[in-house]
Amino acid sequence: MDIEAAVNVGYQAAKATSGGQNANYIPFLASVPSDLLGVAVVTTSGEVFKVGDADYQFAIESISKVFTLALVMEAIGPVAVREKIGADPTGLPFNSVIALELHNGKPLSPLVNAGAIATASLVPGNDADAIWAAIKDAQSRFAGRTIALSPDVNSSEQATNFHNRAIAWLLYSAGACYSDPMQAVDVYTRQCSTLVSTIDLAMMGATLASGGVNPVTGTRVIKAANVAPILAEMMMEGLYTASGDWAYTVGLPGKSGVGGGILAVVPGKLAIAAFSPPLDPVGNSVRGQVAVAKVAEQLGLNLFRPA
Ligand code: DON
Repeated sequence: MDIEAAVNVGYQAAKATSGGQNANYIPFLASVPSDLLGVAVVTTSGEVFKVGDADYQFAIESISKVFTLALVMEAIGPVAVREKIGADPTGLPFNSVIALELHNGKPLSPLVNAGAIATASLVPGNDADAIWAAIKDAQSRFAGRTIALSPDVNSSEQATNFHNRAIAWLLYSAGACYSDPMQAVDVYTRQCSTLVSTIDLAMMGATLASGGVNPVTGTRVIKAANVAPILAEMMMEGLYTASGDWAYTVGLPGKSGVGGGILAVVPGKLAIAAFSPPLDPVGNSVRGQVAVAKVAEQLGLNLFRPA
């Protein structure tokens, strides 16, 4: 089956699926129309396939964790990332405080909130604005266009991020936050508040799929050697407590966000992205998971089931 047909099958399968609810703990996210649905694939040769609301821009949320991780991986290397943050699933919700308590304050994964705040604390830069500029630039180089903050999303999140601030102080008290903790939460919250389309997400994933080079701009964004550890982190924790189920059924490194976006990367080939705001109780897009899984299935992309 060709990619265009597979993207359409994925879109139709998602369209026929219902259930879930928009994230309601961040006021902006609750207000996004629930029926939006976009699916996109970008290949390592830069071909773009899209259907539905694939141009609609939404909050990147937790998917940003992957790209800040990439920035820190470049700065300190995978050995230090694993030592300071970790590379294991927590087995607990993405904002869990218990997970921290159980592991002496070590976050275990850069893809849960605690680990992402620790990751943000490791981005080189003299102040919050310099660090934020580096994060925004990294997202932009992955996407191949200038990615911008949504002031609406950011103010909605900054006004409600008390739980993340508590996590940052716990990290700090355990010696696992490497900057001022409130600065780390500030930049982490900003990185979650940028707007991307489904096509942007697929392009960002395709940059990972092509060994760190954006397939359209041709820019090397990260070292090829850093791609595998990033994808390993995605396989372990990218869909939170559903990461094991996702590996079992879809067999691809993925990452979701509470804005309704979801991304899966097929190394050497392509990336699949989808967007639909209603989430399951774990925090993953209900229709987004169906769309990505269906496209992957149609194209025979499960990494554990070689063709
Ligand atoms: O930290 C938060 O709660 C949000 N800004 C992002 C969380 C998120 O997307 C987790 N997702 N599934």
